[in-house]
This record gives sequence, C-alpha cells and structure tokens, in this order.
Amino acid sequence: MMHIVVLGSAAGGGFPQWNCNAPTSQAARHGSEKTQARTQTSIAVSANGVDWLLINASPDFRQQVQRNERLWPEAGELRHSPIKAVLLTSAEIDHIAGLLSMRESQAFTLWATPRVHAILAENPIFTALNPEYVERRDFALDETWPVSGCRRELGLTIEAFSVPGKVPLFMESRIRAGSDLAGSRDETIGLKISGGGKSFHFIPGCARLTAELRDRLRGASLLFFDGTLWRDDELVQLGISSKTGHRMGHMSISDADGTLAAFADLDVRRKIFIHVNTTNPILIDDSPERRAIQAKGWEVAEDGMEIHL
Ligand code: MLT
Ligand code: MN
Repeated sequence: MMHIVVLGSAAGGGFPQWNCNAPTSQAARHGSEKTQARTQTSIAVSANGVDWLLINASPDFRQQVQRNERLWPEAGELRHSPIKAVLLTSAEIDHIAGLLSMRESQAFTLWATPRVHAILAENPIFTALNPEYVERRDFALDETWPVSGCRRELGLTIEAFSVPGKVPLFMESRIRAGSDLAGSRDETIGLKISGGGKSFHFIPGCARLTAELRDRLRGASLLFFDGTLWRDDELVQLGISSKTGHRMGHMSISDADGTLAAFADLDVRRKIFIHVNTTNPILIDDSPERRAIQAKGWEVAEDGMEIHL
C-alpha cells in the first residue's frame, strides 16, 4: 500500500495569493462555495502510514503539518517528526522555503539533485539546517533507487528524470542576458514514486511535453501534473504581468501546445492538475474551464486530498 496526501495544491503564492484580486482569487478570499483555498504545492508519501517522505517543502509547511495529524510528533516523544525525508523537484522558492521552518534540530534526510543542492549551498540562510541533524544527499537521474530517511529504508523507490523547466526566479539575474533560462538537466525534475507494487508520477512544473516524457508517461496509472495556467497569456490578459507561461517555464492547459492536447492520446489512467495558479479558472468548481478539463478526464488537486494505492 502507498499513501499519498496532498498537503498543498496551489502554485507559488498560494490561492488566494496575498496581493491578487483576480476574480478567482476574490472567490477564494471571500469563501465562495464554488472553490476552496489552497496552500503551495507539496505532497507527503508513505509506504507504511507511519514514516513519511515529503516531496517539496512549501512555504506553507507549518500550516500543512498543523492540518494533517499524521505528520504530528508521536505522543510520548518530546521531539519527534514522522517526516523522515524531504525530496526536492527544483529550487524554486515554493519548493524550498519550507526548509526554513524545519530547522529545529530535527533529523531528516534532504534529497535533491546536485544542481538543487548547489543552489541551497550558495544561500547561507539554509545553513540553519544543522548538518548534525540534516543529512544532504543527492541522486542521479534515470536510475531507480530506494529512498531512505534517517538511515532507514522508507519502502519507496524513486526514479527522477529531467523535465523542461526554468532556473528559479531568484537565480534569473545570474543568467547572462540573452541566454537560455532553462538551466541544467537536473534543475527541474519529475518523479516516478513506487511502493507496494504500485507507482505514480509527480511533475509539478513542466515547460514542454517532449517525446521522451510522452514515452515515459504513456500508460501511467496516476499522474500529478503542472496545472499552473489555463492559457499561456493568462497573466497578460488579466493585466497582471507581461509574462507568459512559456516565459515562466510552465506549459498552459488549453493552448494548442498545451496539456489537454498533449495528453489526448497518452492513456494515463488518472490525471490530476497540481501547482495551480491563483488566476486559473479551473479552480472554480462549475466554471466552463473546469468542465472542459473534466471532459478530458482531468481532476484538480485540493489540499487534504488522499489517495491510497
Ligand atoms: C514557478 O513555479 O514558476 C515559480 O514558483 C514562480 C515563483 O517562484 O514565484
Ligand atoms: Mn512554482
């Protein structure tokens, strides 16, 4: 058995984002029955229901733990956490900022690619994670390996693979003007997580569905996938920003080169959008956009969603 708990399902900024007054954000802020507020994307996975692997450390980590009793310290222990390991899929703020709330001398293993570890190592604020407690370990892409936490096997295996993405926003100024923002192969990754004979894929950010990714995902049983934007020019249309999805490293859902079209012939059994931006109309339960994704067999992740495989 593998347990998956969606701790957070929104893109960077959360839903509603603090400074956003788009109609979707307003609906969430005012408690509309047609939507549900969401924290920034993170999931927890466990093979035994006791020891947990956290995938990405959201800025909302503290709130997410508070809401999920399974992640509370065990009764009778003065200091304890069921979270034995954290694995990062990129060094974006919405994937790493939660590490700063995990600094209270608690042991866990921090898994990331060499590139993501290098970004953390360059930021002295992360030395707040005391190396006497937090072991930083890296892994290679395209290999299947058993993930451990605090030196114990968690009963889960991981295969990480490169996904088209972008360097973190806060690293963009380091890239020479005019050069590519895609970063290195291990800058942005996707995961196949397996346990108890079952598996699922987790890809919270993806700029393009390459032929290689298509082959990898064909016939997959469960997929969480980048649902940031409904359309590539969503922020431009709303008058919020000049940035397109392409510029941000996220494919859109509805454009001709978007997710609905890209997955039309891929036979993925269960498909769930996650990392959904505060402006995306699929967040509204009865919107035409929600109906359009449902008609193509897609769901939208919600905080608190649980899947047991
Ligand atoms: C993204 O997913 O594009 C980033 O989280 C954006 C950000 O860091 O604000
Ligand atoms: Mn993000």
